[in-house]
Amino acid sequence: MIQSLAPSDRLFILTGAGVSAESGLPTFRGSNGIWRGQSAQSIATPEAFRADPEMVWQFYSERRKRHATVAANPAHFALAELERQLGERFFLCTQNVDSLHEQAGSQRIVHMHGRLMQTRCSRQGCRSKPFEDDRFYMKRAEIPTCPQCGALLRPHVCWFGEVPYSMDRIFEQLRICTVLLTVGTSGVVEPAASFVRMAHLNRARAIYVGPEEPANLAFFDEVVLGKAGEVLPNLVKELTRQGV
Ligand code: OAD
Repeated sequence: MIQSLAPSDRLFILTGAGVSAESGLPTFRGSNGIWRGQSAQSIATPEAFRADPEMVWQFYSERRKRHATVAANPAHFALAELERQLGERFFLCTQNVDSLHEQAGSQRIVHMHGRLMQTRCSRQGCRSKPFEDDRFYMKRAEIPTCPQCGALLRPHVCWFGEVPYSMDRIFEQLRICTVLLTVGTSGVVEPAASFVRMAHLNRARAIYVGPEEPANLAFFDEVVLGKAGEVLPNLVKELTRQGV
């Protein structure tokens, strides 16, 4: 049984692709993963976008189409329930670009790798802001340009070689958390893979939930093996059984 939270605990949640797997969105690595059979570098980099924006937009447009057909699962709802109980002692950092946490009701959330359903200017330094966008761009001629500077618009996602978003807020929350709950991430992509080590240095208790052990297993205090949608509803009950 997992030790329940104390009234002084502050919870930092890190989620990865595994939390959305039971909703029908594929993870990245593994036999049916998104990166299977193709190198991430050939799609998810600024260089790939410069070389072939049509191919990159086709990839993200296909993911937008898939996203429109899926719904939040019990794991997303369990985390939203935990937030309702903990209020400002709860912080959710997701590597996922989908909107399923929000669909389930999460509010104190940052998307460190961006948002699939947002678009922004591709020119560094352009002051235009990302905006909500559910359109698909399958042909070069369909890709819109920035109304401010004329550069091509791109998906608002973090590519390899780029700095993830909201890092100041994330580091501050890592500094003050007392419990880190990590769900469904392989523990190989930095900087998220190092969050558990940082929390560990600050004496936070670290829990991992997923069907297999992550690559950064050594820093976790507790590991609950299983699917997020099956484990989290009970885990949230255990964490909050003494009241929060
Ligand atoms: P990965 O595909 O690397 O890992 C997915 C993890 O989810 C694995 O550890 C699986 O065991 C686990 N998993 C699978 N099904 C699950 C389930 N039902 N419940 C819980 N866990 C399950 O995905 P991430 O670690 O999220 O970045 O990948 C990190 C980043 O690498 C992504 O954000 C993306 C990718 O390249 C960018 O695109 C910038």
